[in-house]
Amino acid sequence: MKDVSALIQENGAVQDRSIYWDDDIYLLEQERIFARAWLFLTHESQIPLPGDFIATRMGEDEVIVTRHTDGSLKAFLNSCSHRGNQICYSEMGNSKSFTCAYHGWSFGTDGKLINVPLENETYYNNIDKNRFDLRQVAQIDSYHGLIFATFDPTAPPLMDFLGDMAWYMDAFMDVPGGTELLGPPMKSILDCNWKVPVENFIGDGYHVGWAHAAALDAIQSPLTSMKGNAPGYEPKTSGIQVATEGGHGMGIIWDAAAALHVNPAYGEWIDYRTEMVREKRGEWGAKLYNGHWDASIFPNCSFLYGTNTFKHWQPAGPRSIEVFTWTLVEKEMPEELKQYLSVMNMMTFGTAGMLETDDGENMEGCTGTNKGWVTRQGKVYSGMGQINEGPHDELPGIVSDGIVCETSYRGFYRAWADMMSGKSWEEMSRGGSRRSIKEVA
Ligand code: FES
Ligand SMILES: [Fe+2]
Repeated sequence: MKDVSALIQENGAVQDRSIYWDDDIYLLEQERIFARAWLFLTHESQIPLPGDFIATRMGEDEVIVTRHTDGSLKAFLNSCSHRGNQICYSEMGNSKSFTCAYHGWSFGTDGKLINVPLENETYYNNIDKNRFDLRQVAQIDSYHGLIFATFDPTAPPLMDFLGDMAWYMDAFMDVPGGTELLGPPMKSILDCNWKVPVENFIGDGYHVGWAHAAALDAIQSPLTSMKGNAPGYEPKTSGIQVATEGGHGMGIIWDAAAALHVNPAYGEWIDYRTEMVREKRGEWGAKLYNGHWDASIFPNCSFLYGTNTFKHWQPAGPRSIEVFTWTLVEKEMPEELKQYLSVMNMMTFGTAGMLETDDGENMEGCTGTNKGWVTRQGKVYSGMGQINEGPHDELPGIVSDGIVCETSYRGFYRAWADMMSGKSWEEMSRGGSRRSIKEVA
């Protein structure tokens, strides 16, 4: 395998192409990133009642996430402790227990082994059932309803892992009544490496006017003015990009939360709520709430606030991903507004969405060319805006001077490189300037 320390260079601005293709790098990602980082599982709105569950994956590890009988959240491996069979094949549902189809061992909604068929007759009551509980995640927690877990007992608490990303996200997550994900999710498969959509969502303001020109034209929303990078489009003044500690980040276009929408109802909702947000979180809170965001939470979860799409990019081998897409809404929105946003999400970033198909084709292209051995010896570049970024007087993280740059790409790849090099949590760099939440508020 190539020297891991050389895969990312120039402070995150240069990536070795092998990281989008090679099997051994992918296997190391499973060990050093997906077995250690906090990973998105689902939203509490998807499992509100005792016995509710969803089946998902943490990296390539199959897991079941449940609301246990006592109301607590649990997550454990979806692999039988007897001979290893997959236990649950349903994607979601409500159950008192999970019973393996092979020999019938049953497990509770906390993963504890509760029944072994023919226990007396075959094991002569000499089996210590506690030994065979399903392996639990090391930590599970939720941030305003978004449930995350990690297999690493030494990982910092979820709020430390999210760090300043949570401070930014509070602007629209910490609203009266909270948020929810409308599911079940839309699903698709893309033949691309999992990092390609993560980098696209974390900070690719560059492609919007170009790759999506036709889609923007078809939708005829205020964002249509960006199509083809037409004269008058001002990437420098229209927004910022931020790389926060730990590889998370976002791009924000100011005053554009509702800009991809043709129905004025969403803009009216944003206006109505902005005063509440301003009261609670001040001017920056209101400005962030009114912005349109593209964002990724390290390592493999992304969203567009304003366009209301929420993505989980599940790695499925080095050159394939399973895409899960929900609609992110505020719980207190009128039902008809939620339905409108859900339909708009289907039309834009759902499986057959106009912008999703634009992106999917490019993401597959960025991965697929690396099949060539000579091609794969090369590098790709994300150095845009490197000389015009830095600490901001009032905002945490590394902040760019415009929406079209690659500041947050670099933050993501610096964190990727840190984790891939096997650094402990203490050793890992914090990814740039860090200001306390109190200082900013
Ligand atoms: S493999 Fe599950 S009960 Fe035997
Ligand atoms: Fe896109």
